[in-house]
Amino acid sequence: MRIIVCRNADAATAAVARRMAAAVRRAPSLVLGLPTGQTPVHLYARLAARAAAGELDLSHIRTFNLDEFLGVTRDDPGSYRAFMGRHFFGPARVPRARTHVLDGRARDPEAECERFEAAIAAAGGIDLLLVGLGLNGHVGFNEPGPQLVANTHRVKLAPPTRRANAALFGGDPRKVPREALSMGIGTILRARRLIMLATGASKARVVRRLVEGPVTTWLPASFLQLHPNAEVILDEAAAGRLGALQD
Ligand code: GLP
Repeated sequence: MRIIVCRNADAATAAVARRMAAAVRRAPSLVLGLPTGQTPVHLYARLAARAAAGELDLSHIRTFNLDEFLGVTRDDPGSYRAFMGRHFFGPARVPRARTHVLDGRARDPEAECERFEAAIAAAGGIDLLLVGLGLNGHVGFNEPGPQLVANTHRVKLAPPTRRANAALFGGDPRKVPREALSMGIGTILRARRLIMLATGASKARVVRRLVEGPVTTWLPASFLQLHPNAEVILDEAAAGRLGALQD
C-alpha cells in the first residue's frame, strides 16, 4: 500500500483526478468502481469540468458503484444512484447504460447481489476502484465486526454510518435505511488497482489504524494492506496522526 500525503484536500483530490484521467485516456472504456460520500464530491466536479471542457471523454467508461441503500428507490434523492446522477453521471455525461448501481428496491436483494457480481465479471472485472474511508473504518458498506463477507451482499448499517449519511435524508439519522447492499471485501480486493481518498482531521485516527495497525475485520479498510496495487491518497490533516504508534 503506497501512502501519498498532499498539502490539502484540494491537492489530494487533484492527485486522484490526475490518476483517473490518465487511466481513462489510456483505456477509454475503463471499468471504474466508484464511491459516494462527501470526499469524492469535488473529485467528481473536477472530472466533470474536464469532460465539459472537452479535455476528457468519459462517455465510454463503465462504472460500478460500491454500495446502495436497501429499500430506497433509484429516484429517491437519498439514494446513491441519485447522488451519482447529481454529482457525476449527469455533469460528466456518462451514458446511463454504462453505469451500474445496485438496485435498493430489488424484490430479491440476494439475487440482485449475484446479478451485480456477474455484471462485474462480464465487464472483465474492475480496472480501477476508488474508495472512501468511513470514520469507523468501513469501506463501501463493509462494517467492522467479527467477520467480513467476500462478495456483494446485504449489510446492516452501524449507527455511526447512519449518522454519517444523515445529510442525504434531511439530516435525520433515523430516516437513513438500516440496511444496504455493498460490494464485499473480496469484490474490492479483486479490482486490479485501488485508490483510497481520505481527507480531513476527522479521518486521522482511522487512517493511523489503517496504515499502521493490523489487518483485521474490525477495521475493514485494513484489508487494503493486502492489495498489490493500492494507493492511499491523504491530505496533511488526515495524515496528521501517522507515526504516532511509534511514539
Ligand atoms: C459512506 C459510503 C462509503 C464512504 C463513506 C465515507 O458511508 N458508503 O463508501 O466511503 O461514506 O464518506 P465521506 O467521504 O463522506 O467521509
